[in-house]
Amino acid sequence: MSGFNTLAVHAGQEKDPHTGAVIPPIYQTSTFIQDGINVLRAGHEYSRGSNPTRNGFEAQLTALEGGAAGFSFASGIAAEDALLRALLAPGDHIVLGADGYGGTNRLITRLHYKWGITASAVDITNLDAVRAALRPNTALLWVETPSNPLLGIADLAGWAAVAAEAGALLVVDNTFATPYLQRPLEFGAHAVVHSTTKYIGGHSDVLGGAVIVGEHLHCGQSLAEAVGYQQFAGGAVSGPQDNYLASRGLKTLGLRMERHCATASTLAGWLEDRPDVARVYYPGLPGHPGHELAARQQRDFGGILSLQLADEAAARAFAESMELFQLSVSLGGVESLVCYPREMTHASLIGTPLEIPANLVRLSVGIEEADDLLGDLERGLAVAAKASEAGRIQYGSLATA
Ligand SMILES: Cc1ncc(COP(=O)(O)O)c(C=O)c1O
Repeated sequence: MSGFNTLAVHAGQEKDPHTGAVIPPIYQTSTFIQDGINVLRAGHEYSRGSNPTRNGFEAQLTALEGGAAGFSFASGIAAEDALLRALLAPGDHIVLGADGYGGTNRLITRLHYKWGITASAVDITNLDAVRAALRPNTALLWVETPSNPLLGIADLAGWAAVAAEAGALLVVDNTFATPYLQRPLEFGAHAVVHSTTKYIGGHSDVLGGAVIVGEHLHCGQSLAEAVGYQQFAGGAVSGPQDNYLASRGLKTLGLRMERHCATASTLAGWLEDRPDVARVYYPGLPGHPGHELAARQQRDFGGILSLQLADEAAARAFAESMELFQLSVSLGGVESLVCYPREMTHASLIGTPLEIPANLVRLSVGIEEADDLLGDLERGLAVAAKASEAGRIQYGSLATA
């Protein structure tokens, strides 16, 4: 059993010996009967420590990422928080990809800084900048590729080499690519994090996060022990219903990703040819600066693209006017979504050097028919053009007043 879709359907799916149910039951229980004091029937004591539904999903995702162990949490941010707590000590420094989920930056710079953790943000595409940001106390390098929302591509093997030089650990947020497109542990990453809320759940109906670690020792213990203990003692675990939904989503990840990628590629090419679109960010476009690298380290180019319109008025009108592309944070579901990252997902970066341009819009391309989505984009661009023109007239009259 080795092919991606075969593993996705079968890994971690222990059948129920009593009923023969094809789908493992959802173990909606907080605790487990003991046959004597501390004599556990099947290794389970209390669901914060272990639960068969959660463990099944963890095994399934671990197999797909090619990891040594996986841990499921209540959200992507809970997974990130647990990983930071498991790996860092007060005074440690992080080299953090500048283009990345705003909440990760917020978690580190507004919560973990209280414990003396510092971070330097770097251009993810510039390995010299990554190297230059290293300090004697750098314990961790953290990168997201493709990145959110500018779709930058980081050279994973290059980042792993810099981490090795520094004696630091490399964490990769694989939420956008998913293990179907890219397996960071194979490039030398020590741990992978996911917001399973996105493509893994795949249907916008569940929140979750995961950490998958490779075989590596950290401060005398394996990463699996360190993160496992944090999961148990910190307690930010995901519940059985949520694990069931994430596990069900994961079974069709490969099929959905093929469709997401194909449609996103069609839409990106169409948008690039439009005179009213200033710039399209999609790694599948030959003109994208990370195109060659993405072609080498990813199976395909993903289902997310961003675009810059003429101005802020156009971007806002575009985001607010479409029907199939529903205005919403999040991504990776079967339905298409549009987001205005500057004020929706990355608002915590406003006023910092990392703030997102005001004319940028992000699209999460769903599995609807490409022609219907193109029609929606066409309508949105028509509304955007009117809003931009109205803004210019107003600005012009003010300027001459
Ligand atoms: C790339 C990335 N990582 C992590 C997160 C955080 O995940 P969650 O919202 O499940 O806490 C997000 C959420 O948007 C994300 O896009």
